[in-house]
Order: sequence, then C-alpha cells, then structure tokens
Amino acid sequence: MAKTGHIKHHRETAEPIELNPLFSRLGEATELPRFVMPDRPTQPETAYQIVHDESMLDGNARLNLATFVGTWMDEQSIKIYAEAADKNMIDKDEYPQTAAIETRCWRMLAHLWGSPDSEKSIGTSTIGSSEACMLGGLALKRRWRHARDAAGKDASKPNLVMSAAVQVCWEKFCNYFDVEPRYIPISEQYPVLSGPQLEEYVDENTIGVVAIMGVTYTGVYEPVEEIAAALDALQEKTGLDIPIHVDGASGAMIAPFLQPDFVWDFRLERVHSINTSGHKYGLVYPGLGWVVWRTEDLLPDDLVFRVSYLGGDMPTFALNFSRPGAQVLLQYYLFLRLGFEGYRSVQGASRDVAKYLSEAIGKMGPFDLCSDGSDIPVFAWKLKDGHRGHWTLYDLSDRLRMRGWLVPAYPMPDDLAAITVQRIVVRNGLSRDLAGSLLNDIETEVKYLEALEAPMPAENRSRPHHH
Ligand SMILES: Cc1ncc(COP(=O)(O)O)c(C=O)c1O
Repeated sequence: MAKTGHIKHHRETAEPIELNPLFSRLGEATELPRFVMPDRPTQPETAYQIVHDESMLDGNARLNLATFVGTWMDEQSIKIYAEAADKNMIDKDEYPQTAAIETRCWRMLAHLWGSPDSEKSIGTSTIGSSEACMLGGLALKRRWRHARDAAGKDASKPNLVMSAAVQVCWEKFCNYFDVEPRYIPISEQYPVLSGPQLEEYVDENTIGVVAIMGVTYTGVYEPVEEIAAALDALQEKTGLDIPIHVDGASGAMIAPFLQPDFVWDFRLERVHSINTSGHKYGLVYPGLGWVVWRTEDLLPDDLVFRVSYLGGDMPTFALNFSRPGAQVLLQYYLFLRLGFEGYRSVQGASRDVAKYLSEAIGKMGPFDLCSDGSDIPVFAWKLKDGHRGHWTLYDLSDRLRMRGWLVPAYPMPDDLAAITVQRIVVRNGLSRDLAGSLLNDIETEVKYLEALEAPMPAENRSRPHHH
C-alpha cells in the first residue's frame, strides 16, 4: 500500500521563461517570471503559445499504458465538451437539463448493474471513483452507526474489511473518516480477497466489505458472489448482516458487456452500492465517476443535502460543491452513441488486444503472467522464478520509456512486496497495430537486456537492482 508522506514538489529552477522572439511582440516583455505572477498582462497569443509548448512536454497519452483513464474521444465529444465547458454540475437550478441527464445516466447504470427496480435505486455523478468510494464508504458507516445507536451499542470503533490490494482511495477513506482499515493480505494462495478468509476479519463493528472488480495491480476480479455467500453463512452463524460495496472503478463498465454471466452486482442482495469511473472504461475524459445504491433506503437521509432546483429542492450527496458538468453530458452522449452493443464491441476490442499482448508476452522466455487480460483488459507479468540475468522489470520499463512507451513496473502490496510486476492497461485507442509495434519493442529490449553480461551502471537505471 502507498505510504503517506510529505508532499514533494518537482523542483524547477527559478530562471525566467524566455520567449521565442517569433512570439514576442513589440512592447511585450521577452521574459516571464516563473514563480511570481507577471506584473503586466501578456498578449493572449503569446500566453497561449507558452502554455501550448510547455504542455507538449507531457508526452504522448496514447503511448501511456500505465493509466486507466480515457485519452481519446471523438470529434462530436470534443464539440460537446467545448459547448458545455461553462456548466457547473452543482447549479441544478441554472442547468436543470444537465441535472436531468445526470439522473438518466445513473439510472441507466443501475439498470445495467442488475438493479431489481432502477426506480428505487439512487445515485449520483462524482469527480471520479475516489469520491464515489468515499460516498459509498460514508453511507456504510452512517447506516452502521444508526443501527448501533438504535441498539444502544457503542459506535466508536467502525472498521472496513478489504483486500490489501485495494486502491489508495480506500486507505484515504479510512484515514480521513476515522475508520479502522482491516486489510486481508494477498498471497500466492489467495491472490484476491475470497470467501474463506473473511470470518477472521469481520465483527460487529464492521461497516462493510469492499470487493474490487478489477484489482488495480493485476486487473483480476474478486469473486463477489463467493464473498456474498461467505457473508450469508456468517450471518446465519452470528446474526451479523454485513453489506458489500463493489469498487467497480474499471470492471463495472466491462463485466456487464463482456462477462454477463459473472454475478457481482445488484443481482446480489448484499451488494448495497457500486461505483465506477466514467473516465475509465466509461470512455469519458477525466474527471467523472458514478456511485449507485441498490435502493434509496441504503443511503441514509441525514447524509443528503438539498440544493435549489427549479424553485424546488434537489437532494445532493457529494464531497465537492462546484465541479464541471460537461463530463456528465459526454457520458450521456456515449451512452446514446454506443448503446449496449457499441460498448460491448469497444470493450471487446480492448480485451482482444490485451489477450493478444499477454499471450505473446507470456511466451517470451523470461516472463510468467500474473493475469492475462480476460477480466478487465489489464494484465501483469513478472520475471520467472530463478530467472538469471543482470536486469529487472524496472530496467525493461526504462528501456521502453526511451521508445516512448510508458509501461510501469512496481512491487505487489504487502506480503507479496518482494514480487515486482509490470502491467499494461489496454484502453480504447491501443489498436492491434500499435500493440504489434509495442511487442516488437519489448522483444528487442528483452533481447538487449538478456545479453547484458553485468548489471547496468546505476546512473542508467531509475530503480535499484534486486530480484
Ligand atoms: C479499483 C480502483 N478503485 C478506485 C480507483 C480510483 O479511481 P479515480 O482515479 O477515478 O478516482 C482506481 C483507479 O485506478 C481503481 O483502480
């Protein structure tokens, strides 16, 4: 798990930004200070050129195979984005149609996620899955507290049970909202959270269990149905009724289309709430998330605030107040534009590319696959046990970066921290053709690294060398 620490800033020198003479205009400064606001205005064209040129250094998003977040949208989306850039999601009164469209979107999601009656479900858009997870967690905590208060029991020590491989937003939730995190370690035997481990961790102070649909490290689904069954058995034995929140940041927009028979959603009564990132496999630019509760009563009313809406009032539950509204319209555009069939074929294409890549990488001599991209289109691999060579996956990551590809290597969490894995996230936009070029580059670099007769000099590597 990520360690908290001081926030570090990228150090830049304080040298002024020098303007290219081509862009500086008569009477304009030819240098701009870097860390203090310039005294005088700059021509819009000049300022544009500076920002444009600086952001060019960010690299090519399409070659970034580290991120889950959307890096491509079509022309119509860009038009909507530009037209809607001024909309503030919280101004329900000023933008009632955007508010209505937000409701249509989460109702579509409730239906997609097997809600028995999507009219009884309740949901909201958020800035991303992190906020959506916080809201899911807060609802669990508040419901637990109400039940404890009603029973006259102590409500001062809530805990949340989840895999040690949860995304950092759950650590944040526990830290920010004073909930004890109970991490179930992952191991070679239990690579994801599963039923048999739960009993040891759950007690009367457990506000819920988080199940991850698409573990961030490997892309593998946690067996939500099995987790629910284990909690059913536990309830029979102990009377404890522990709800599940499904963190479907990626998988909630994959499973309905590619694995319709996998039962993980509101088809299971124990699943109280589900979140997803509209900006991941929802295919929208950042930042958009969604959270939906199976039925309205699972979201305690005392968490809901009312904002003015067409002279009446509109319930809202959010951490942010103001936030861009354009992404909600983009999500709606995509729901209309693609429909179920369209999403199925876009996600299917990503899955095919992921499987094509994982199969080829699995066959390369030094690697063992940790996952193959058949859950979400994300897979990871490690060096074979006993691999002899003077290189690590960090070196391969460095070599690929020289060719423009961002393919991160990182340690697995906690108990498996000695294992380094490398991961590829296949998104819409990584074509089979591009994947072919990537494979060629991986093959070339692996050959180079395997031929090394001594470790690379320390200055040539971004991370220390150890197996
Ligand atoms: C499983 C899981 N949960 C939550 C998040 C956080 O999502 P967001 O970046 O939308 O806040 C991620 C992001 O990678 C994730 O993989």
